[in-house]
Amino acid sequence: MSLDTIAIHADQLLTMPEDAPALQNYDSQGDLEARDRAICGLLEDAGVFVKDGVINWYGPWDERPDEARGNDVSQARAGVVTPGWVECHTHSVFAGDRADEFVLRNAGRSYSDILEAGGGILNTVDAVREASVDELAQSLLNRVFEFVRKGVTTLEVKSGYGLTLEDELKMLRAIDRVRDEDVPCELVSCFMGAHTVPRDFKDDREGYVDLICNEMIPAVSEEDLADYCDVFCDRGAFTVSEAERVLMTGKGHDMTPRIHAEQLSDSGGAMMAAELGASSADHLEHVSKDALKAMANSDVTAVVLPAVNVFLGTTDQLAPARQALKVGCEVALSTDFNPGTAMTQDLGMVMNLACNLHQMTPGEALRGVTIGAAKAMDRDDIGRIRRGEPANLTMLNAPHYQYIPYHVGTNHVSGVIQDGSIGYWTNTEG
Ligand code: NIG
Ligand code: FE
Repeated sequence: MSLDTIAIHADQLLTMPEDAPALQNYDSQGDLEARDRAICGLLEDAGVFVKDGVINWYGPWDERPDEARGNDVSQARAGVVTPGWVECHTHSVFAGDRADEFVLRNAGRSYSDILEAGGGILNTVDAVREASVDELAQSLLNRVFEFVRKGVTTLEVKSGYGLTLEDELKMLRAIDRVRDEDVPCELVSCFMGAHTVPRDFKDDREGYVDLICNEMIPAVSEEDLADYCDVFCDRGAFTVSEAERVLMTGKGHDMTPRIHAEQLSDSGGAMMAAELGASSADHLEHVSKDALKAMANSDVTAVVLPAVNVFLGTTDQLAPARQALKVGCEVALSTDFNPGTAMTQDLGMVMNLACNLHQMTPGEALRGVTIGAAKAMDRDDIGRIRRGEPANLTMLNAPHYQYIPYHVGTNHVSGVIQDGSIGYWTNTEG
């Protein structure tokens, strides 16, 4: 892919500063918009000049360098420009679908019931074991393009539907294969062999954890197939001590720990994640205040996944996003795209849910899909706009930033630049 030289003129440019001022001091009576502008580093009538793959300049449009005015430079116009959206938590490699469970849940069965009856994740495991690496890569490729059209420039993808050494490697190799296709989206992979205990190890949990630690993690590391290691630590999945063992083993193989914690019960996973130095703890519906404080002290990003609550019919048990912000956590947002609990690739909808269900502000929601999501993966080179850094930008056909979560169900993305090249482009003439 060749690098493009582009000057983009935006009504509003959101740069996303490192430390959001006054995040802890949310006051619903205060000037929410002024605060949002500060936490998003919002500039009016501003521009970005992309050259040689990096952000060469950004600032007030009138002050753009002469070079950005040249006839040889492509000119683009957008209502709002943000850092490229970072989708930090997905299970995008899968086969088959679970529409039948969607119907069952809507008729009253709970996710836990289905999981404990041997359905749920294990149904997708059966389908993935049947699929070839080519089939998994092809369906992932299609999903990646859908994410790009919806504004995503960095996509995290987990394994965890194989649950044998070969099937976990197959999932991660499918991610690697799509990466080799030169897609306009950075793929970040996460090993999640500890997604659930497979049927064949039903009576030998310890044997399965041994397999993960003694065989899977070393093999994944040997092929350099994953940057992160994740565990579903919850009732019906793995205990805190099992999760800790897996994450420590992953850490010993240079995989940054992350965790699915406190989704179904307060099992103590988030506190353990803070002690272990995980980059994020995700879900958190049942997290304690003490665990949130420990997460804030250890820079563990809180990843909030409201689409899951909608899919599972549990909007009465939401993660305490406002409390997380109040104690000083960075809050990231993600779809959790997966065939069971969140069959959506739409971060726009997730931002709307963050505002409507979690009382987050539009600025907090936009931080959640940019710098917040970058922090969830311990990355400091994405999710923000800085001179000299790789150019990842999402352009939106919206009159102002608040419109993005507010006008839900419409894709406002008009263009995407990923690593200095155009990844998706509609009506963005200068
Ligand atoms: O993040 N909570 C566990 N894992 C996934 C669900 C995966 C599935 O049901 O297939 C999640 O929600
Ligand atoms: Fe998940």
